[in-house]
Amino acid sequence: MSDAAEIDLGPLHDYYEIEYAVEDFRAAILAGLSQPQKRILSKYFYDERGSRLFEQITQLPEYYPTRTETALLRAHAAEFAELIGPHASLVEFGSGSSTKVRILLDALEAPSGYVPIDISRDHLIESAKDLAEAYPDLMVVPIAADYTKPLKLPEIANELVRIGFFSGSTIGNFLYAEAVDFLRTAATELGTDNGLLIGVDLKKDEAILHAAYNDAAGITAQFNLNILRHINRELDADFDLDGFSHDARWRPEEGRVEMHLVSKHSQTVLVGGQVFEFAEGESIHTEDSHKYTVEEFHALAAEAGWRAFRHWTDADDLFSIHYLRVA
Ligand code: AVI
Repeated sequence: MSDAAEIDLGPLHDYYEIEYAVEDFRAAILAGLSQPQKRILSKYFYDERGSRLFEQITQLPEYYPTRTETALLRAHAAEFAELIGPHASLVEFGSGSSTKVRILLDALEAPSGYVPIDISRDHLIESAKDLAEAYPDLMVVPIAADYTKPLKLPEIANELVRIGFFSGSTIGNFLYAEAVDFLRTAATELGTDNGLLIGVDLKKDEAILHAAYNDAAGITAQFNLNILRHINRELDADFDLDGFSHDARWRPEEGRVEMHLVSKHSQTVLVGGQVFEFAEGESIHTEDSHKYTVEEFHALAAEAGWRAFRHWTDADDLFSIHYLRVA
C-alpha cells in the first residue's frame, strides 16, 4: 500500500492507494474471452459511466434491493448501534457514494473512524471528503483498492470495535467459493471480536427478479453493454455495441440471476491485438447475482469463520441484513 502524496487531503485524515496495472485488466479480459463460455468479470462494469448507470439502477421502480435495504437500515439503526457499541470504526467494502453508511454513522454513539474502500479512486476521494466534512469528529481514511484482494487496514485512534459494512448484496456477485474467500479475508482484516453488517438479497418469486434485471427503461441493458465500451476504451478493442443485446434470467439450479450479452449475428472482435469470433446467439457471461435464503447465507458465513449473531428481513421477505461476529 502506498500513500498518494499528490492528493489534496482536505478534511481527510489520511489516504491510501493500491495501483493496478492495465495489463492485469487486459490479461483478465483476454483469459475470460478465451473460455468456451466467454466471460467478462462483473467488477469491470464500474468505470465512471458504469458507476453512474448503477446509481440510476438503484433508483428504478423495479430494482427493489436498494430501497428495501435502506428502509431496513433506517428501521433498525438504533438496534445496530446498541449491538455495535460506542467508539466503533466502520470499514466499508465497495463504498461508492457512501450514502447508506450515513444512516449507521448517525445512529452510532461517538463513532471513531470510517474507512471507505473502493476501486473508483476519484469518486472515492470526493465522497470521502463530503462525508468527512459532514462528520468532523470522525477519522476518515479512504483506501483506493480492489477490496476483493487482501489489504492491511489503517489504525484508527480511540477505536473500541471495528465493524465491516458490505451493503447492496454485492456478496451475491461472487461465486460461492469466492464469497467464502472474501468473507474469510474480511474476518482476518477486521480481526477477532469484531463484526460485519452485510446486506444479502433473498430468493424470491421469479417475476420480481426478472423485472429487477430487465427494467422497462432499459438502464440495466445500458449498464450491461457499457462493459464493452469500457473494454473498447481501455484495451483498444472494437466491440460494436449495437451487435449485442442484454439478456438477464433467473437460473434456479444455480440460485442466481445471470446477465449475458448475446451476439446478434456472427462477428469478429479485436481485443488487445487478439481476434475473437462470435457466432449468432453466442453470449458473453457478464454477471452472476446470487440470491440466498437466510439459512443458506448462514452456512456460507460459517464456512468463512463468521458466527451469525442476528438478522433482519423486510415484511415481504425481499432482502436481509445480517450482523455477523468473527467466530
Ligand atoms: C452491485 N450488485 C449487487 C448489483 C446486483 O443486483 O447484482 C449489480 C446489478 N446488476 C444488474 N443490476 C444491478
